Amino acid sequence: MKFLFIICCALLWVANTSYAQQGKPASLNASAINAKLKDAVLQYKYMMKHLPGDSFPRSFYPSTGKYFFSNAEWWCSGFYPGSLLLLYEETGDKKLLAEAHRILPMLQSQQFNKGTHDLGFMMYCSFGNAFRLEKNNSYKTIIINSAASLKTRFNEKIGCLRSWNNSNPNDFLVIIDNMMNLELLCEATRMTGDSSYYKVAVTHANTTMANHYRNDYSSWHVINYDPATGNVKQKKTAQGAADSSAWARGQSWGLYGFTMMYRETKDIRYLDQAVHIADYLLSHPQLPADKIPYWDYDAPGIPNALRDASAASIMASALLELQAYHTDARYLPVAKQILQVLSSEKYHAKAGANGGFILEHSVGSLPAKSEVDVPLTYADYYYIEALARLKKMQP
Ligand code: GLY
Repeated sequence: MKFLFIICCALLWVANTSYAQQGKPASLNASAINAKLKDAVLQYKYMMKHLPGDSFPRSFYPSTGKYFFSNAEWWCSGFYPGSLLLLYEETGDKKLLAEAHRILPMLQSQQFNKGTHDLGFMMYCSFGNAFRLEKNNSYKTIIINSAASLKTRFNEKIGCLRSWNNSNPNDFLVIIDNMMNLELLCEATRMTGDSSYYKVAVTHANTTMANHYRNDYSSWHVINYDPATGNVKQKKTAQGAADSSAWARGQSWGLYGFTMMYRETKDIRYLDQAVHIADYLLSHPQLPADKIPYWDYDAPGIPNALRDASAASIMASALLELQAYHTDARYLPVAKQILQVLSSEKYHAKAGANGGFILEHSVGSLPAKSEVDVPLTYADYYYIEALARLKKMQP
């Protein structure tokens, strides 16, 4: 009887311990990072089996078990090949490289697409990584052509690249997300020696710094400029909770964008801007204790508002780069915490679940009721990038 009691207690202890381990995010040392990267490879191998030959993955609806695919023109088309290439780089798994080689040609046509500002996301996350890893000159040509297409959207008077096309010729809409496309332009100057790409990137960043940010270093989502005068006409939102709110992914794009522009230019003003943005976000009273932002820092219904895993993974990756430029080690622990939470069962899909996407619980556009609380390709891309960055920072 006593023996049976001891066995029961031991079983209970084991069950409790493993429950606690599941609930509490595990610490991400080098071997844990490698394990997460291997999980990610398995997920993407699962996803590639379910991908129709002519499509790019966009999302997956766990409630119905249905995929949402896109064509090459969708702003996220570069993230799938980009994730495959990052995972190939980290694990050496050739199946991922082969899948990237299969899908990259389907994206090539976009190098001549002058109708979008998203060419940085589309062509640099994909062909940029491909060129970095393989040094294939045809990729270089695609990157340069893409940058040339993006540059056509620059307006000298305003000092910005146009984001969205709209039918009113008196509007010129620029969104904070556009900071992310400047890396492509900087790369094109490096590749060609033509400084005009770099100058456009710097001018766009300067105009954004002047007009997109509030005194507290939160950012508006959309600035509408008057193309005749270059003046600001409106400061508003499209994907946020309100014109005056801090839409979470927009804050992450800005943080990442100014950190990246410091890397590209070594202009200390961009580093200062990134530090101010980071400090605003990390001291925000509505940033939850686990550091995964609500979809908007001013979302109605907090603490019951939805979180956005994509805003978290972009922020983690940006903070890891920012830490490398900053002597005070305050960003690394937060980035690590974010990645640990994203790697826990609260956000990280179980093997073979979530359509093969790695992370659950992102928000595309809540006001448009589009892609709400679903997996998204860019949440995965920046999660993988951040894991790889953290791995390189391990002692
Ligand atoms: N660039 C669009 C988004 O972040 O939703």
